[in-house]
Amino acid sequence: MKRVRLRTTSELLYPVPVVLVTCQGLSGPPNIITIAWTGIICSDPGLVHISVRPQRYSYRLIKERGEFAINIPTAAQAQQVDYCGVVSGKEVDKFKECGFTPIPGETIGVPLIAQCPVGMECRVVHSLEVGVHTLFIGEVTAVRADENVVERDTLSFNKVDPLVFFPPTSSYGTMKELIGSYGFSKKRPH
Ligand SMILES: Cc1cc2nc3c(=O)[nH]c(=O)nc-3n(C[C@H](O)[C@H](O)[C@H](O)COP(=O)(O)O)c2cc1C
Repeated sequence: MKRVRLRTTSELLYPVPVVLVTCQGLSGPPNIITIAWTGIICSDPGLVHISVRPQRYSYRLIKERGEFAINIPTAAQAQQVDYCGVVSGKEVDKFKECGFTPIPGETIGVPLIAQCPVGMECRVVHSLEVGVHTLFIGEVTAVRADENVVERDTLSFNKVDPLVFFPPTSSYGTMKELIGSYGFSKKRPH
């Protein structure tokens, strides 16, 4: 098998989650920004990150309040996810245009999106300029989910129907099935 060398870029790591981050300044309406550069940083304390370019309208809102929420969309919400990533809250009310309902956060002053099945409330604990993006590290202060996607106290893969992003071609996709769980390899003969 011949291997070819690709240009060096972090954007060949795949797949990644794509989320709708809600934010709000100290005055003015809330906004939504689509973010693919996001991930888990630490399990205890629960820390996540989002990477935001300073020229985004949302950047100022997140800086100002020091809070944001990660709303996890379903595959069926791909259109809204794309829309929130190509228009600016400076010009458009994205809640209204997407038919999304804001619901108040329990621990933060930023609303979440009622139609997204899972919402993580975050308080910014660090921000780091790392190049064209600023990395916001958020401590997760509450996570709430639609009861329809919860099974035995945790999220059900089939019910959340995740939307994923494939950075090499900037494409959206779905996930097919689960093929095992943590530690399953040890129970099988090699
Ligand atoms: C799939 C997708 C992923 C994106 N990921 C990011 C990201 O991780 N960081 C970022 O700063 N912008 C990202 N963007 C671009 C912003 O979402 C976009 O510029 C948006 O219009 C900014 O909205 P705002 O001006 O209301 O803040 C992404 C856009 C799309 C479509």
